[in-house]
Amino acid sequence: MRMVDIIEKKAGCEPLSSEEIQFFIDGFVSGDIPDYQASALLMAIVLNDMNEREAADLTLHMMHSGDTVDLSDLPGVKVDKHSSGGVGDTTTLVVAPLVAACGGTVAKMSGRGLAFSGGTIDKLESIPGVNISQTIERFKQIVRKTGVCVIGQTGNLVPADKKMYALRDVTGTVQSVPLIAASIMSKKLAAGADAIVLDVKVGSGAFMKTVEDAKRLAELMVKMGKLLKREVVAVVTDMNQPLGLSVGNALEFREAVQLLAGQIPENDPLYEICLLLGTQMLLLSKLAKTDDEARGMLKHAIENGSGLEKLRSMIHELGGDASLVTLKGMDQLCTTRRQIPVPAKNSGYIVDMQAELIGRAAQVLGAGRATKEDVIDPAVGLVMHKRVGDRVEQGDAICTLYVNDESNLADAMETMTEAVRIGEKPKFVTPMVYAVIR
Ligand code: URA
Ligand code: CA
Repeated sequence: MRMVDIIEKKAGCEPLSSEEIQFFIDGFVSGDIPDYQASALLMAIVLNDMNEREAADLTLHMMHSGDTVDLSDLPGVKVDKHSSGGVGDTTTLVVAPLVAACGGTVAKMSGRGLAFSGGTIDKLESIPGVNISQTIERFKQIVRKTGVCVIGQTGNLVPADKKMYALRDVTGTVQSVPLIAASIMSKKLAAGADAIVLDVKVGSGAFMKTVEDAKRLAELMVKMGKLLKREVVAVVTDMNQPLGLSVGNALEFREAVQLLAGQIPENDPLYEICLLLGTQMLLLSKLAKTDDEARGMLKHAIENGSGLEKLRSMIHELGGDASLVTLKGMDQLCTTRRQIPVPAKNSGYIVDMQAELIGRAAQVLGAGRATKEDVIDPAVGLVMHKRVGDRVEQGDAICTLYVNDESNLADAMETMTEAVRIGEKPKFVTPMVYAVIR
């Protein structure tokens, strides 16, 4: 087989065989196929697409490019969740312990923040002592003991994706539904869960900019799950503004604790999406028969504090200081030298937010990395006071910046002012949930 023939075939819009896809993945990972040939094929896929069978083959061969985790010796249905990335999206820290409190088994590997979007692993590390690099044996032991464990992805999980993602990032080949689906699903399948709930984000703070594309991605991933014998449900949800009000690592952890402590109202978007995801996880785990039953169980685990207790146990098992996982402890972790409000430039209604820019404002304050070597300040970031549709008067605080290092303060202020557009008339507010795909 020759790589150039495979490139020409895809350039001519022909579907690739499973053997051809395997030849590409094996050669790319081993280094036998150079980046320039891989880039040419990736671009041909971006332009000419893949059918479902090709996407499933790509996923499978990527999944088997490295280690896979076997969770079969753990009892019950092992359930995982994944969000396609967003701003102020702290659902994992809420839903994973809540589902465990309802009897579920949640074994999950998470990533770090990427550019403007946050990552669960960075948020976990805002608690002093937490070690997110655990052996698979210890990971399973924690799941067995507490019903929930979230750790960082182990070293050799889907090396094909690591290498391909880095190449896609610099060759304009990120935006392809089958490539994104294979990237996400190969990692989820390799991590070993029986059932997976996917939250596909759509909007200004997401990879998918239109509901149509997001639905296509969601449907493709659900079908792939079926082909590969896992239970997959995907929801398509809004990312046109930060999901929670907080953006930043300890700040988002605090919001998760607030939610688990019953301090956040039910009509709050973060609450709504957490209950939606938790409901799907309980249904797939066969712990509830209907949406209503699952919602009731989740609410009960908020009201009686058992969800918060699970989060505390997990932090303790990961080596963290669990005594900080309280409302008071969280305030302590979110203390910065200065807290600076960003005022509204004029009066009117908030008609639009650029979630990506809000994520970027938090990043320049030190909540995220611009390069891989950057060190995160867990305490910094911002807390929104307004949402799309809200009325504001000139001078009202749109958000509060939590600042330690003031060198990028002006940049953050300007970015926030640009991110939030104020108009004269109120705007129709977009829904939070666009689709649930089973
Ligand atoms: N997230 C991933 O893991 N991969 C992609 O390609 C896009 C988002
Ligand atoms: Ca995330």
